[in-house]
Amino acid sequence: MKGWDAELTKEHEQVAAQVSGLETALKADLSAQERQAVLSEAVRKLAPFLESHFHKEERVCFSTLKRITGCQAGGLLLVEEHKKIRGLLKHLRELLQGTAPLEWEGVTLTVDGLIEILEDHEKKEDYLIVEVLRKNLKPTELEKLALAYHQAGEKSSSLEKEGIR
Ligand SMILES: [Fe+2]
Ligand SMILES: [Fe+2]
Repeated sequence: MKGWDAELTKEHEQVAAQVSGLETALKADLSAQERQAVLSEAVRKLAPFLESHFHKEERVCFSTLKRITGCQAGGLLLVEEHKKIRGLLKHLRELLQGTAPLEWEGVTLTVDGLIEILEDHEKKEDYLIVEVLRKNLKPTELEKLALAYHQAGEKSSSLEKEGIR
């Protein structure tokens, strides 16, 4: 049987794979125009995926973390990092929308920054969310948490479809 955190862990793997795809596209033997197109498409896919993942964590996991530890700090730190990641992604999108010659140095630095912060962020979450909640919640509570996490994702994607988010 999969752990309660299977969905979250899988999403972390998908985020890591998509972000390393950005790095691969930067190093690939492509013309500047092709590279710009490949990266723009990758960012276009990554942004809504990350948004849905962040929404689920913020709605379900961080509030549970606060309830268990009796302190806001862990959740707040992770929310701050979500903001930084959103900012970097927005910056990257803006750079990629520029006209030629593109500011490739800025693009590379932003992709490197994204990879670095996401790796660190997910490591923190593996501890603060997965480990801390697993140690402190009863099996039935973990099941409820997994279900709430899944449902928050469904809600978030239906809001996106309706154009509300
Ligand atoms: Fe997160
Ligand atoms: Fe995460």
